[in-house]
This record gives sequence, C-alpha cells and structure tokens, in this order.
Amino acid sequence: MFRKIMITMGLFSLLFTMIKGADNNLIELPEPNKTGGMPLMKALNNRHTSRSFKDDELPRQMLSDLLWAAFGINRPQSGKRTAPSAMNMQEIDVYVCSKEGAFLYNAEKHALKKITDEDIRKFTGTQNFVDDAPLNLVFVADYNKMGNMDSETKLKYSWCDAGYISQNVYLYCASEGLANVVRAMIDRDKLHPKMKLDDSQKIVLSQTVGYPK
Ligand SMILES: Cc1cc2nc3c(=O)[nH]c(=O)nc-3n(C[C@H](O)[C@H](O)[C@H](O)COP(=O)(O)O)c2cc1C
Repeated sequence: MFRKIMITMGLFSLLFTMIKGADNNLIELPEPNKTGGMPLMKALNNRHTSRSFKDDELPRQMLSDLLWAAFGINRPQSGKRTAPSAMNMQEIDVYVCSKEGAFLYNAEKHALKKITDEDIRKFTGTQNFVDDAPLNLVFVADYNKMGNMDSETKLKYSWCDAGYISQNVYLYCASEGLANVVRAMIDRDKLHPKMKLDDSQKIVLSQTVGYPK
C-alpha cells in the first residue's frame, strides 16, 4: 500500500514538473551562490572595461550568479532587487543572448525563458567582439510598467535604472575575473525585431561578458 502511494505521488510530481516546464518554456537556473566573492573595495578597485573575449561559454552556475547579481530578487518578501529602480517600477528586463538563442531572465523564478533559437549576438552591437563573445546581456525598458509619466521621464528613469544593473554586472565581473563592457552603440532598429519586442519595449544598453582573452 505504502509503495503504491509513493509511486502515485512520484507520478503526480513528475506530471506537475512536466506541465510546469511545458507551460512556461522555462529553463531553471541553479540556485545563485550569494556568499563569497571578492571584498567590495577590492572589486571596485578591479572594475574596468575590456573588449577582448574568449569564445568559451560560462558555466551555468556562473550565469545564475551573474543574473542574480545583475537584477535578481534579494528580498523575497517584497520582491525587491539587487539594483534600485525609480519608484520600484522594476521596468528593466534583462535578456541573455548566447549561441543557443535569446532568453528573458525571469527573476521571480530565477529562470530563463527562451525568446528565439536564433543566435542574435551579432545584432546586439556594432562592434566586432559581440559576434563571438559568449554572452551579450540586453537591458530593455518596458514603458508599460512605468504608468502615465511622460516619455522624457520614462527615458531618464530607465537609462538610470539600467545603469545600476550594469554596474552590478561590472562588479560581479571584477570579482570573478571576467571581461565585460557596457555598450550604447547598438543598432536598435535591427535588434528590436530580432528580440521579438513590442512598441512599449525600448532597448537601453547591452553588456558583453566573457572570459578575458
Ligand atoms: C552609458 C555608457 C555607454 C557605453 N557605450 C559603449 C559602447 O557602445 N562601446 C564601448 O566599447 N564602450 C562603451 N562604454 C564603455 C566606456 O567606453 C568605458 O566605461 C569608459 O571608456 C571608461 O572605461 P572603464 O569602464 O574601464 O572605466 C559605455 C559606457 C557607458 C557608461
């Protein structure tokens, strides 16, 4: 009897996991490692831009830690994040562009949602290194999350909010010895349709990350 109950429970749990996975097309990331890393003052001392990357992919754990550092949830009760945002609008979405395609970071589930199978890295910037570097993050502001404010204010707030996220990425990279560069030089008209964005979504910045060459 006990065995039957255990098997039934196991089947239900498997079914639940399958439905959940199929429903959201979500790729779960490993739990982020929230301890360790370099002392803050040392990371600030090491922070710098570099534009030379190896093609090598980053381990899944490193991607998980990087995304959590960038704009993960650090206070689950309130859903607030590792970076501040004007009026806590949290209007910036972090996209990950890699060889495998483009993905939207879902902070609540700490998971990635696939947007496209296409390798769109070369559309994320106008500089050559973006084509082969393992990771190009793209910070996209969703103006629908910003209420009725005028578009100039939306622009100012979203660029500022993306800047904080970018600095988190800079500090994580400094701590882990990764190369990275934040970039405004993007052909937004070309990238926008490749990312399947709608009119309320505005590409703010991109940031290339990888092992230094
Ligand atoms: C808003 C912003 C936009 C930037 N855009 C680019 C870019 O498109 N391409 C690039 O190679 N570097 C870009 N950078 C990186 C700067 O050139 C770099 O931060 C600056 O030279 C200072 O170097 P450091 O980051 O090592 O202190 C940008 C930096 C910021 C803050």
